[in-house]
Amino acid sequence: MVDLAAQYNDISSEIDEAIHSVIKSTAFIKGQDVQYFEKELSEFLAAKHVIACANGTDALQLALMALGLEPGDEVVTPAFSYIAAAEACALLGLKPILVDVSKKTFNIDAEEIESKLTEKTKCIIPVHLFGQSCEMDAIMHISEKYDIPVIEDSAQAIGATYTSEGRTRSLGTFGDIATLSFFPSKNLGCYGDGGALICQDDALAHKIRLLANHGQDKKYHHELIGLNSRLDSIQAAILRVKLRHLDDYTNKRRTAASIYHEQLRSMNEIILPAEMTNSKHVYHQYTIRVLNDKRDGLKQELYEKGIASTIYYPIAIHKQRAYSHFVESDYRLGRSEELSKEVLSLPMHSHLRTDAIEYICSVIRNYLN
Ligand SMILES: Cc1ncc(COP(=O)(O)O)c(C=O)c1O
Repeated sequence: MVDLAAQYNDISSEIDEAIHSVIKSTAFIKGQDVQYFEKELSEFLAAKHVIACANGTDALQLALMALGLEPGDEVVTPAFSYIAAAEACALLGLKPILVDVSKKTFNIDAEEIESKLTEKTKCIIPVHLFGQSCEMDAIMHISEKYDIPVIEDSAQAIGATYTSEGRTRSLGTFGDIATLSFFPSKNLGCYGDGGALICQDDALAHKIRLLANHGQDKKYHHELIGLNSRLDSIQAAILRVKLRHLDDYTNKRRTAASIYHEQLRSMNEIILPAEMTNSKHVYHQYTIRVLNDKRDGLKQELYEKGIASTIYYPIAIHKQRAYSHFVESDYRLGRSEELSKEVLSLPMHSHLRTDAIEYICSVIRNYLN
């Protein structure tokens, strides 16, 4: 699905130098690279604060803790998504309210959000799935109308933008807090685990920083009950190098997507990913929908031809055994359930060659014709 070796080969001298410099400094934890990375990323996003942490799941948990949510509070989040947002809620004793998504964009449906609000709703977590923005105007309108904070899960959408009232901004700068993951296969990935939170409010940023560091303001003075959630210096040094290449990587992903579009355009049994006009899609995934129950057969055919493909996500969250107690047994979210049977993500990364895409598409065409 990704070719991290090809990407490394291109920038190996920069990466090796960055890693060696941390090793020589021995500042493995909270070294300078972490602060530099936070600053450089905040400039890249035009965000006021970036707080690095250990991974994207911790980032979600820290965001919920920073907003002061309490057990029993409800958090509205999509059912067709990665598990992390619902998991962070469940771990804190919060109730994830799982709502349906748009089949066109795969993203949470703003109308569905509004229909699921109750007096207990204390947060909305839209997930910018596969690299494309949710409908942030509509979501922020709901947030303001009902005074409910928003945490943008931007793990899959670093570098993506959204245009609101003529102004284009990075995703992650709309909500009260946003979260990022630097898992190796992410558009900006490190060589291990990493994550970050983004926010514009000084007091909230200070609280997040404390929470991520055992709740301590000063060493051994604990103001809050927190977590140990750190980005280590080697990962920060790697991310600093890769951040310099991120725009180039995004452009390459978008070019790969346009070649897929061109090659698969005329297929009746495939629905191609739709790009919203007011958002820049960064194609963390290139996810097609395969109709007429042909998805699994196509996946197998690709596998036999040596082509990787992945089903993100095979089971909607309200259908997961561990989460079934959050919903009634007859709870149905038709679009999420249908998508889990239709979606197939094709290889997508910054070093995907045109001839590889052409080969993948020829296998798809031959199978479906
Ligand atoms: C949408 C989304 N949110 C959160 C996460 C969690 O990130 P991490 O794996 O760094 O904990 C991921 C990672 O796959 C993700 O895709």
